[in-house]
Amino acid sequence: MKAARRWGAASVGVLVALSVGLLGQTQAAAAPVGGPSPSVVGGTNAAQGEFPWMTRLSMGCGGAVIAQRVVLTAAHCVRRTGSYTGYTATINRANLTNTSVGQSIGSTYVYRSPQYSSTGTYDWALVELASAPSVAPLSIANQGETSLNSGTFTVMGWGATYEGGPQTNALKKASVPFVSDSVCAQSYRELAPATEICAGYTSGGVDTCQGDSGGPMVKNVNGVWRSVGIVSYGNGCARPNYPGVYSEIQAFSNAIRAKISASGTIIR
Ligand code: ARG
Repeated sequence: MKAARRWGAASVGVLVALSVGLLGQTQAAAAPVGGPSPSVVGGTNAAQGEFPWMTRLSMGCGGAVIAQRVVLTAAHCVRRTGSYTGYTATINRANLTNTSVGQSIGSTYVYRSPQYSSTGTYDWALVELASAPSVAPLSIANQGETSLNSGTFTVMGWGATYEGGPQTNALKKASVPFVSDSVCAQSYRELAPATEICAGYTSGGVDTCQGDSGGPMVKNVNGVWRSVGIVSYGNGCARPNYPGVYSEIQAFSNAIRAKISASGTIIR
């Protein structure tokens, strides 16, 4: 299975639309994007409250609260820009079965990066929630803040723990090292280096996977989590020489911020 982007953005869009129609959610849509591969591979359980902004979206993707009522996710996880009440966001609930913690809030509006449909890159979208969850938002990289592109990142999600595996109830986390564009491009000819960032071990073994899409790749900077990437795609999961590919937030954080109002809603 090659990376889904080799299928072209159009075919992914068709698959997303199909599965939404059949299932009423895009959980199945996650599979075509990264291939029928293996939630986080090689991870460990995250503690309740460790990543308060971490969000599970009901279509089968991850996301992160980045403003009072806004969740940042991947464009390939959603359909089009517009009013939409069909998603449920579960926030700050490390184990999805533990309904005594965290919050579950419905969506009101979706904004999908307009650049995604034309390029297949710029894989980001915003989901507006009906009310503000009681968590502090995750800080995203600033436009041009490429200094964050180094070292070790933390990735997380409820996705498959091996290629083709099921989604998990327990939030998994893992650490993955930065991979330079030049090295990553040797694995992914379709890499868009200006807007995508790679992370993983040459030997594989640790990676995000199907169902983790849309979730954040974060870096701890002096005790503060900063979001550097968004889980986007990969060839299988955790395969040697195939790092995970993440949307590179610093390349479009101004565009994200331009869509968020002072009160933390999506600007229509
Ligand atoms: N596209 C996948 C999803 O929809 C995520 C793939 C990430 N793959 C990887 N090898 N890092 O959940």
